[in-house]
Amino acid sequence: MTATVIDGKAFAGTVREKVAAHVARLKEENGITPGLAVVLVGEDPASQVYVRSKGKQTVEVGMNSFEHKLDADTSEEDLLALLDKLNADETVHGILVQLPLPKHLNEDLVINRIDPAKDVDGFHISNVGLLGTGQKSMVPCTPLGCLMMLRDHHGSLSGLNAVVVGRSNIVGKPMANLLLKDSCTVTIAHSRTKNIEEVCKQADIVVAAVGRPEMVTGDWIKPGATVIDVGINRIPHPTEEGKTKLVGDCDYASCAEVAGAITPVPGGVGPMTIACLLANTLTACCRANGLAEPEGLTA
Ligand code: GUN
Repeated sequence: MTATVIDGKAFAGTVREKVAAHVARLKEENGITPGLAVVLVGEDPASQVYVRSKGKQTVEVGMNSFEHKLDADTSEEDLLALLDKLNADETVHGILVQLPLPKHLNEDLVINRIDPAKDVDGFHISNVGLLGTGQKSMVPCTPLGCLMMLRDHHGSLSGLNAVVVGRSNIVGKPMANLLLKDSCTVTIAHSRTKNIEEVCKQADIVVAAVGRPEMVTGDWIKPGATVIDVGINRIPHPTEEGKTKLVGDCDYASCAEVAGAITPVPGGVGPMTIACLLANTLTACCRANGLAEPEGLTA
């Protein structure tokens, strides 16, 4: 079997088109423009690239982008004061604090200062609790993107066996909760799981989010299963000396021989994350104004 490739880049494009169309309607019919504030503390190069990309895509779908770049030695007090100001600002519907923060800042304290209704990352403890109890919440962007691709491929996920490999707060745990909400039978596997290959082999859906390059191989996969690879790992290039190569948490070649469908790296889950951030900002804006939520863009 050769797996169907789930094209995340194309899918993200359609998500952005849907967001843009809804934003245009909001402006025309309600005179509202959704706004996203992104806060970057310090000069981490990877974070700077992400923040630039988020700002650019926000503007491209017709939303307002507010960038707040703070010095690496910004005090916690000043950062919290900025968040209070953004929480109170009616033109700001979504707030994202780019992680990781410099060591002297308490990440939990900072994230939990964001108004949960504006927490487009879905990291606030209230949103974590709401998702965990199956209630309406803001949902973390990467798992939301995975869910959208799975729903698109399978239609209903009800009754399917899903194994999430990885137990992080950002991907593994919210992913498991989303799959449970869609009535999958869910297992979370991790570094201490016994017979992890056998556990994965029972799955109709495998979501790999461990951060270990090419850990999941084709012999872990049930023939015809769907493989969603969240990993983004840079490894030394196997044939070209001095170069690096981007790989996922799955060994693509061997998994694609067995799976029914698979997301590639790059071009799979990655592009969906920012698209879902835009979707979440739109959702937050609609909720804030008592308007109907965008269809197909929420959990
Ligand atoms: N840094 C890396 N990924 C993320 C993310 O999804 N959200 C935030 N806020 N920071 C990140």
